[in-house]
Amino acid sequence: MPASIVDRQQELGLGRAFLDGLGEGPAALLLEGEAGIGKTVVWRATLVEAARRGFRVLCCVAEQAEARLSFVGLGDLVGELADELLPALPAPQGAALEIALMRSGSDPERTPDPKAVAVGFRSLLVEAARNGPVVVAVDDVQWLDAATARALAFAARRLDGQRVGLLATVRVPLASPDPLGLERALGADGFVRTRVRPMGCGVLRALFERRLGYAYPRPTMRRVAQLSGGNPLFALEIARALGPAPALEPGAPLPVPDSLRELVTGRIAALSPQARDALLAAAALSHPTAELVEQASSCDGLVAAEESGLLGVDGALAVAARDDSLPRLIAGRCRGGRRPAVVAAARRYRGRQRGK
Ligand SMILES: Nc1ncnc2c1ncn2[C@@H]1O[C@H](COP(=O)(O)OP(=O)(O)OP(=O)(O)O)[C@@H](O)[C@H]1O
Ligand SMILES: [Mg+2]
Repeated sequence: MPASIVDRQQELGLGRAFLDGLGEGPAALLLEGEAGIGKTVVWRATLVEAARRGFRVLCCVAEQAEARLSFVGLGDLVGELADELLPALPAPQGAALEIALMRSGSDPERTPDPKAVAVGFRSLLVEAARNGPVVVAVDDVQWLDAATARALAFAARRLDGQRVGLLATVRVPLASPDPLGLERALGADGFVRTRVRPMGCGVLRALFERRLGYAYPRPTMRRVAQLSGGNPLFALEIARALGPAPALEPGAPLPVPDSLRELVTGRIAALSPQARDALLAAAALSHPTAELVEQASSCDGLVAAEESGLLGVDGALAVAARDDSLPRLIAGRCRGGRRPAVVAAARRYRGRQRGK
């Protein structure tokens, strides 16, 4: 595996086990996680390892802007395989793929028959796997165009005994728990789903040293870990904004770089109203605890906010609303709706607790 990767032993181990298993039949590995948590890094490293082993890698990085373009993902996956293998396919399948992939000679006005495309794609994978294991790799499945996703799901259900693996990343929260139907297609034995976890302080330190050439003393590292929620992308952004030798006043908020602000804003926008209420309650309290936040919002809201990674519940009851800077940002973003009621409730409960 590439030396530029920091840590991720567990995820890389799952990647190797996935590749090891491909000698015997189909398998799938799904890497889930929030934006910036490090899914693509693990995905890419596993593909490098697959290529090193001489496996054939068919790869597609889905883009949000192209999610509505039918079969654009399939075009990336099939790529140069088409020239080599299309002639070996039964004519109707080959013709349907030619149209779907808009290859020269196909009529641009014709729409492809989705079933023939899916059958053709499956045949293509079987052909390719004759010479050795094949890895079909999709980064950011949530943006894969629906036509390609359906063809992939169709093929996945019909790969019995074939040396074909599917390696995908997907952002959480998920619109659908199994976006490509891989669990249903391959069963518990053939399908592994893993959540890419936040990085701890020590790993972030190694990441900074590797990527930036500097790191910070322990108290600053701890604050960066807390503000970023252990998300390597956020942590790197914060460290870039801080620079190698920040002069931090004790207790002063860490800077929230614009890039992190945008990411957090996007994540807040995607939350349920209950989760937003919980964030807001935590932001309104100077010393939030899980109990206070739950009382001021709801149990479901607290759980959802914690799952989002924006609110950390440490130990039994202490809630860390990620340093000082983020609560302010959250409070600004959760305007409207139940905002005044939630803030008032948080203050009321805090007052009651003090009076105990
Ligand atoms: N284990 C790691 N070692 C080195 N750098 C890492 C590691 N994990 C993440 N990074 C860095 O953090 C950034 C985010 O990682 P990555 O792109 O893999 O996240 P992601 O989960 O795929 O995010 P998105 O959902 O936005 O695609 C990258 O710039 C990468 O360089
Ligand atoms: Mg990614």
